[in-house]
Amino acid sequence: MKIISCNSNRPLAEAISAYLNVPLCKASIRRFSDMEVFVEILENIRGEDVFVVQSTSYPANDNLMELLVTIDALKRASARRITAVLPYFGYARQDRKTGPRTPISAKLVANLITSAGADRVLTMELHAGQIQGFFDIPLDNLIVAPVFVPDIEENIKKKHKGKELCMVSPDVGGVVRTRALAKRLDADLAIIDKRREQAGVSEVMNVIGDVEGKVCVLIDDIVDSGGTLCNAAGALREKGAVDVYSYVVHGVLSGGAVARISSSPITELVITDSIAATEAVRVSRNIRQLSVAPLVGETIQRISEERSVSVLFK
Ligand code: R5P
Repeated sequence: MKIISCNSNRPLAEAISAYLNVPLCKASIRRFSDMEVFVEILENIRGEDVFVVQSTSYPANDNLMELLVTIDALKRASARRITAVLPYFGYARQDRKTGPRTPISAKLVANLITSAGADRVLTMELHAGQIQGFFDIPLDNLIVAPVFVPDIEENIKKKHKGKELCMVSPDVGGVVRTRALAKRLDADLAIIDKRREQAGVSEVMNVIGDVEGKVCVLIDDIVDSGGTLCNAAGALREKGAVDVYSYVVHGVLSGGAVARISSSPITELVITDSIAATEAVRVSRNIRQLSVAPLVGETIQRISEERSVSVLFK
């Protein structure tokens, strides 16, 4: 087995390599002066089972191109099997036509990865489960429950012993994910119904479910500008929640998101390292990162040995 890291999330690739006790494959992934991507694999990989780790996070297009060019280099170097490991799959939010004459970019990206030569894909908490069907090659879509559940038990349930816990989906799209976590934690479920009743008039947040006197945990796949979470947290406090936490898989955190979350009623936002933390995230007062390296590493091991992956989630 060989693990190769592109440039978007080297700390995670290194942690995966440490978990597996397999050194990262020597490679040079660099730019020509006009910013074209150039890749050189610096060791023999003929006949190897190769895993390329790359999150297509900011800058999404550069990181995607790095992944495609690396897969092409591996294919031409006679790798036996190439697995594209995308802890964060950028473009996932463009999973359907949102209006006339708009693209389905998630499908386009799936086609690009397949055409470049990937034999399979390993990713995590896709924005919409149906994106799995955009690929005609095997895909494993990991869920982060094994990482989030013990942390919520340790850091929230113990601290707020005696108080009722309520998992909250900040929109209708996230209900399935949130309900699954609520079930594992034996917690209640609430849903935020976001509605813009008139163009240009700010959104109305209706809370469906009883949150009064409860400790609420907002669950989402992506935090980008932070607007969804901060507004939801405000609505929950207005409805009498005693404390609000949030667990989100992919910390995109663009623009002023970190500052917005810092000044929001969210006690703590927990994200994973599917996207490398920026300096602002590292020094933030209320954002903490959990590593998915053991989960991804264990899955890579199982794929390589043709063993079951689903048992990790039972
Ligand atoms: C939307 O469907 C996603 O699940 C997230 O809720 C959304 O991407 C968060 O974006 P923002 O942080 O910019 O509100």
